[in-house]
Amino acid sequence: MNDAIRVLHLTDPHLFAGADGQLRGTVTAATLQRVLDHYSAGDWQAHRVLVTGDLIQDDSAEAYDRFRDLMLPLNLRVHCVPGNHDIRDLMRPVCCRPPFSYCAWEEIGDWLIIGIDSCVTGDAGGRVTSAELERLAEAVIGSPAKYVMVCLHHPPVPMGSKWLDTVGLVNGDEVLERLRTLERVRVAAFGHVHQEFDEDYEGIRIIATPSTCRQFARGSDDFAVDDNPPAYRRIELNSDGSIDTELLWVSE
Ligand SMILES: [Fe+2]
Repeated sequence: MNDAIRVLHLTDPHLFAGADGQLRGTVTAATLQRVLDHYSAGDWQAHRVLVTGDLIQDDSAEAYDRFRDLMLPLNLRVHCVPGNHDIRDLMRPVCCRPPFSYCAWEEIGDWLIIGIDSCVTGDAGGRVTSAELERLAEAVIGSPAKYVMVCLHHPPVPMGSKWLDTVGLVNGDEVLERLRTLERVRVAAFGHVHQEFDEDYEGIRIIATPSTCRQFARGSDDFAVDDNPPAYRRIELNSDGSIDTELLWVSE
């Protein structure tokens, strides 16, 4: 559809202060750049970018500067939410300044895009506080937008991976129920799981995008990475409330 809102979904870049910082043998700045180059070389042009957390890995302000410098050439508004590896006090100075935004909401076309914070300081697992759920509800109820895309770091549903589900969203059921009762939510997009996911929950498309660096093995009882390459996702928010999405793997 020509009037769709096109969202480039990137997640979990796990950047370091140094350009050569590695996560399990992968230079994360290089793989994010590879993903960005792949996007830029294509003929699909996004209106917005969404980054669902774990921007950095090493607790440094410099890694956020690196994120900013890698993303600025896109010349697009970038919606960000924190992940469990993020440090909110270091992330906000970069992500609260245009063209970045932090847990923000925006009406664009027929859609409301809103980021929510699902992180618990010091815990890999997540919880969306009642205050954050109220903020979400107020934004949705107060918006004339017909449809809503909710963005967060942690998965609101189990992934069928024993270790990963121990660090999921402890109140996922409550979050899903709130999304359902708000009625206009059509998409929930998240990161954290470093793997592909795309299922429907009562008319809400629940979507994860693999990381721009290393991926976790799907369905594994114990922590395990696999050899899938970096990835990103194209999401098109259509004016009838449906979405189209395509996952792109970026091999060397
Ligand atoms: Fe991550």
